[in-house]
Amino acid sequence: MDPNTSGLAQKLAKAEQSHLLQFWDELSPEEQADLTHELQGMDFQEINGFFKNAMETSSGSKQEKMDTRMEPVPREVLGSVTRDRENVKVWELEGLHCISQNKVAVLLLAGGQGTRLGVSYPKGMYDVGLPSHKTLFQIQAERILKLQQLAEQKHKVKCCIPWYIMTSGRTMDSTKDFFSKHNYFGLGKDNVIFFQQGMLPAMDYSGKIILENKGKLSMAPDGNGGLYRALGTQGIVDHMEQRGVEFIHVYCVDNILVKVADPAFVGFCVQKGADCGAKVVEKTNPTEAVGVVCKVDGRYQVVEYSEITLATAEKRSADGRLMFNAGNVANHFFSFSFLKDIVQKYEPQLQHHVAQKKIPYVNAQGQLIKPDKPNGIKMEKFVFDIFQFAKTFVVFEVLREDEFSPLKNADSQDGKDTPTTARHSLMSLHHRWVLNAGGHFIDENGRRVPAIPSLKDGTDLPIKCEISPLVSYGGEGLEELVKAREFQPTLMINESGIHELVKNGV
Ligand code: UTP
Repeated sequence: MDPNTSGLAQKLAKAEQSHLLQFWDELSPEEQADLTHELQGMDFQEINGFFKNAMETSSGSKQEKMDTRMEPVPREVLGSVTRDRENVKVWELEGLHCISQNKVAVLLLAGGQGTRLGVSYPKGMYDVGLPSHKTLFQIQAERILKLQQLAEQKHKVKCCIPWYIMTSGRTMDSTKDFFSKHNYFGLGKDNVIFFQQGMLPAMDYSGKIILENKGKLSMAPDGNGGLYRALGTQGIVDHMEQRGVEFIHVYCVDNILVKVADPAFVGFCVQKGADCGAKVVEKTNPTEAVGVVCKVDGRYQVVEYSEITLATAEKRSADGRLMFNAGNVANHFFSFSFLKDIVQKYEPQLQHHVAQKKIPYVNAQGQLIKPDKPNGIKMEKFVFDIFQFAKTFVVFEVLREDEFSPLKNADSQDGKDTPTTARHSLMSLHHRWVLNAGGHFIDENGRRVPAIPSLKDGTDLPIKCEISPLVSYGGEGLEELVKAREFQPTLMINESGIHELVKNGV
């Protein structure tokens, strides 16, 4: 269809995006049809408005203002697994009770592109090289299964934790195929619900949409805060309501240690009557590039490291800890009514953030250019942008070594947040579980391995040990298997028993 007669050319001219048709005559009929379809589905007025607002917000001189407006999280809204040990048991029981009543759902943010990791498939399908070679998706699925079992055993009722999985245009098909191929890891097809977040075009600094090739716009997911719009447009809020979901645990796909639907966190938030909660780990290094949960002008927010001065990042409280130490790990609790309000009332108030990126594009001569410095922006909303709307906000501090080890980058020497660091974090946690349950490790000469691995040849390699989530969710139930026993790594404990892979020559 000719863009002039269909009205498309006029629509683009009005939005000052006519350049999107500059290669029209060179496209095949199929390419013309695809481009027409893509352009007709877009609301340019809205996109131009997002661009204008995002650029205005990002160009404000936030730095000085932010420092003086920030306050740390007050102790009364803070729960801590180390400082409130006795209460943790109570919270855990509360959480398990909610789970047994089918009130708890989990929501996975898996719409990212994983560009830093550099694989072409969704990050949840990544195998970090554990002895079992389980993927992140499988580990999370098995934690859900185990938690359902624990709640069922405790309360003698059958229960289910529905798993909502947000994907994007780029990850949807392969994610769905993967789950179907693995029979939903035993969770049941009806209890794993996929939905798709929105996409937005990448734009140059003057607000022109970037063409990734002559007939295709450069599109990217609209950030993990795209969640809130997608929950409405994809009918997920209604689905949750029909299922009687009252509490939702939201988390990111890349944290190998994530305690999915963590009963202690859920129970803590429920007992505090919170509508919104954030799990945090202690930030101990002032220059660590992690966002911190704090109050700004009296309202909760995550402040990125780049938004504050070093002087503020280095401030310490009387106890010697950093004053702004509530490191955000993108692990959130929402009450259903709060989430529904966000989706129905507050979502349009959320501003996009600007991420400057190197975006491949075709130039006016039709050549594909791969820039070596940022040439445009992607617009993203963040999942934590809604903290400001909470009436009762709480913060739950957990131990980083027990709960947070994200997979962001490909392996490299001394790399941070890589497959190797993720694998080591999980094996080190499971090693500690075995020790805490009274088990021991021996080396190939039968000598006990010290509880704290020493630096050997400059490499601090953890004991190879992996415990299936189907055996233990958080270290519980291991005494009867390991107490007073000695194991030679590699140790694997799964549903079929205890396996020492070296002894068996594997
Ligand atoms: P990151 O911001 O680390 O992005 O996402 P990423 O896609 O995993 O990796 P890079 O930046 O491209 O290398 C944190 C979490 O938010 C999700 C991701 O899937 C991950 O769980 N996310 C991110 C979305 O769900 N949607 C998005 O648009 C962006």
